[in-house]
Amino acid sequence: MNNNISQEKLNEIRNSVDIVDVISSYISLIPKGKNLFGICPFHDDNSPSMSVSKDKQIYKCFSCGAKGNVFKFIEDYENISFIEAVKKCADLGGVELDLHFKSLVKDSNKYSALYDVYEDSLKFYHNILNTASGKEAREYLNKRSINDEIIKEFKIGLSLQDRSLLTKFLTKKGVTKENLIKSGLVIDNNYGLNDIYMDRIMFPLEDLQGRVVGFSGRIYNRKDTSKYINTKETEIFKKGELIYNYARSKEEVRNKGYVIVMEGFMDVIRAYTVGIKNCVAMMGTAVTKNQANILKKMAKEIYLCFDGDEAGAHATFSCIDELAKVGVIPKVIRLEENLDPDEYILKYGYDKFKEKIDNPINVMDFKLSYLKENKDISKSEELAKYVNNVIKELSKVNDDILKEITLKKLSIESGLDIDFLKERITEKEEPKEEIKKEVKDDKKLKGYEKAERNLVYYMLNSKGVIKIYNNRSVFLSNPKLRRLANEISAYYHKYGEISLADFLSYIESYPELNETTSEILDLNLSDEVDLKVIDDYIVTIKDNLFEMQIKKLQDEIKKITDIEKQKELASKIADLKIQKENM
Ligand code: GTP
Ligand code: MN
Repeated sequence: MNNNISQEKLNEIRNSVDIVDVISSYISLIPKGKNLFGICPFHDDNSPSMSVSKDKQIYKCFSCGAKGNVFKFIEDYENISFIEAVKKCADLGGVELDLHFKSLVKDSNKYSALYDVYEDSLKFYHNILNTASGKEAREYLNKRSINDEIIKEFKIGLSLQDRSLLTKFLTKKGVTKENLIKSGLVIDNNYGLNDIYMDRIMFPLEDLQGRVVGFSGRIYNRKDTSKYINTKETEIFKKGELIYNYARSKEEVRNKGYVIVMEGFMDVIRAYTVGIKNCVAMMGTAVTKNQANILKKMAKEIYLCFDGDEAGAHATFSCIDELAKVGVIPKVIRLEENLDPDEYILKYGYDKFKEKIDNPINVMDFKLSYLKENKDISKSEELAKYVNNVIKELSKVNDDILKEITLKKLSIESGLDIDFLKERITEKEEPKEEIKKEVKDDKKLKGYEKAERNLVYYMLNSKGVIKIYNNRSVFLSNPKLRRLANEISAYYHKYGEISLADFLSYIESYPELNETTSEILDLNLSDEVDLKVIDDYIVTIKDNLFEMQIKKLQDEIKKITDIEKQKELASKIADLKIQKENM
């Protein structure tokens, strides 16, 4: 929320940059007509559906409906808070920020103390690895072909046997007991405060912005029940929202056009050592909806390259289902001999692994072989089970061509007639959810509804129309539109100027107006303001208002029996009719 920054300052910052320059630094834009177009980063876009208007300083995606001003773009693209996006713009535009603003940015990051704890711990662990006490751990890493450069890049560190070291270090830095415990790096037990991690190689876990928010500690010199220990979830570390290597890989993923998802972060690090830098991993958990959505935003194509074992195949299967829920069909890479990507690369080298990546298989081929595994389909019973399973999977597939191809294969494999198989699918197919139409159907709107909506559209585009709205005391029957129109009018009254892009940052503080504003922005009206048309709108709106009032009185008359009262209402109606005629 921007309640605390003055609107003037927001406008100054927004005006200090050109939305076209800013968006161009993230995605490429091609001029078309008076706008520019690019591939929308907020959905799985194939053709450029995002338009950026230099005149209006806003962007709008015709496909997914994403829209807003430059702040909103940065906020959503970078996954940061509104205030952080504003700060970023100010830096770009060279606008000086006062202390008040800076403290707001810091406050907006209400967990800054925790981030600091992690930043300090990271340096602490990283330094230890480079001391004499880190010799054995360094040898372990080197034996795994992780050299100093990679250690530095991934900020790998080491915790020692002495469980008071980090606690002491952080305490000396002034970290409070409360924050020590909150961080999940220190535990308060019978012996006082103690480090959680002991004798483990420390792999930092970064959030989507690349800030360290947790660790995964691996054993290297002893046996222990758990190979890895991850930091417990905290206010800033949620496993289901984190994707390992996201920030580091983002750029490369964009260049390559696809992201490779792996099971373990060691696999990601290994791939990186051989120059494959567009890989990410989950934190040993199944992909959540949240992560699926982030992956979808990352790249047009997603390749799943999980461990080569049965568990990896299973994980691939469930990941495909989760991605399907957000409308993504990934490709699959399967590794032989139960190897994970780390082992595979070490054993077979870059070339062979690259060849695998360059030849991913489609989801249905993967499913066919997975469902066939350990089945002897020469036996009728097992064949029947196999065919049924494939049919079930096929009924989930949205891609008709892929469906047809797979059916052909299945028909050949099973010796069953293709039409027979097709019918089985239709039986199973779940009724498809009706896709909700976001924009209201224009034809279904009554004349006055359209007039009210369009009038507000022009108020957002021209201050002349705002003046007309005020001078002619227009009253909109739709309460949401009325609220928005009044807010526009209030804004103009207060600041003496209005631009759509500035107004959009203003209503950040009024989330209840979001939907209505979004609907208005979706309209495809001519940008030229025609005063005759505006006048028609107002007449239609006022006409309707009279009619509604008259209708209300007529209904009342029918209900009452008191003759005097009826007469009174009838005269009111007559009066309204005269007013309406003489409008
Ligand atoms: P290395 O054995 O070091 O090569 O790791 P790996 O990448 O082969 O790990 P593995 O395939 O066994 O596990 C994949 C992911 O699951 C890891 O990256 C961890 O996030 C998670 N994981 C594995 N073992 C443990 C464990 O003992 N505890 C926890 N919390 N997570 C684990
Ligand atoms: Mn491994």
